[in-house]
Amino acid sequence: MKKFISEIPTNLFEIFLVELNGYGAEIISKDENITIFAIYSEDKDAENIKETILSIFEDLGSGKIIVEEDIQEEDWSEKWKENFKPIYIKPFLIIPEWEIAEPKENQIPIKLKIAMAFGTGLHPTTQLMLSFLPKYIKPEYTVMDIGTGTGILAIASAKLGAKKIDAIDIEKEAIEECKINAWENQVNINCYQGSIEDIKEKYDIVLANLQIEIFEKYFDNIAKLFNKYLIISGIFNNKEAEKIKDFVKKNNLKIIEEKKAEDLSNKEDFWYAFAIRNS
Ligand SMILES: C[S@@+](CC[C@H](N)C(=O)[O-])C[C@H]1O[C@@H](n2cnc3c(N)ncnc32)[C@H](O)[C@@H]1O
Repeated sequence: MKKFISEIPTNLFEIFLVELNGYGAEIISKDENITIFAIYSEDKDAENIKETILSIFEDLGSGKIIVEEDIQEEDWSEKWKENFKPIYIKPFLIIPEWEIAEPKENQIPIKLKIAMAFGTGLHPTTQLMLSFLPKYIKPEYTVMDIGTGTGILAIASAKLGAKKIDAIDIEKEAIEECKINAWENQVNINCYQGSIEDIKEKYDIVLANLQIEIFEKYFDNIAKLFNKYLIISGIFNNKEAEKIKDFVKKNNLKIIEEKKAEDLSNKEDFWYAFAIRNS
């Protein structure tokens, strides 16, 4: 088994993955400039895979293989499984595009072509957000997904039949991911780059899986953007949950449902998610 470790400018990484046409890559480290990643291959395919990687780097005008090593087959297969398993969050089956998983009856498949969200499995806050959607999204509703990232929540809303979905993120790379993943799932989502203050319309449902610092700055703006429900997460531990409860009160809103999930690395802390409406 061969492992090719490569580096590429971060803004080209998603395009590289698309060119790789579904073959998986494991992200080792990533910052705004450089992404370092590994690609694994059976020995018999190694030369072909290496040629493919190098030719994509050549087409993109950037990127290089920095380490090429032989590894034990069992290590490779364990790592692979650990990082790229399909995940079922009722009713959605989230499938990395290169995995084969047949959705069962009543499961709604969401394919993600881009690996970023799968470095350590799907984040608990994303899972909480997804678990709220079947109850609150109705086919006649319009939806805004603030901080869309991979586009996963917008795609899930589209699959539940929402009639118009806009998705915004400040990061250009996120918008590229959102577009690719929307296309991969054959759904119509308007993914665009911008921040919360650029949102000019009101929506029936607003989804916002953000961090407390963003809620501290923008909660009052977000509170004005929805007609029916605001569903939020990204809130860590009691202290942050209390802050959110204060913002909710101050804006004359009401929490109608609360969910929490254990943090994966620290089982004593929880992530929170809230469904909110006007009071
Ligand atoms: C925790 S991720 C959520 C990704 C995805 N919605 C999910 O649930 O898995 C938060 C996203 O919010 C984006 N973000 C941060 N500040 C923002 C802002 N002011 N306006 C829009 N998006 C923002 C980040 O770039 C990031 O992609």
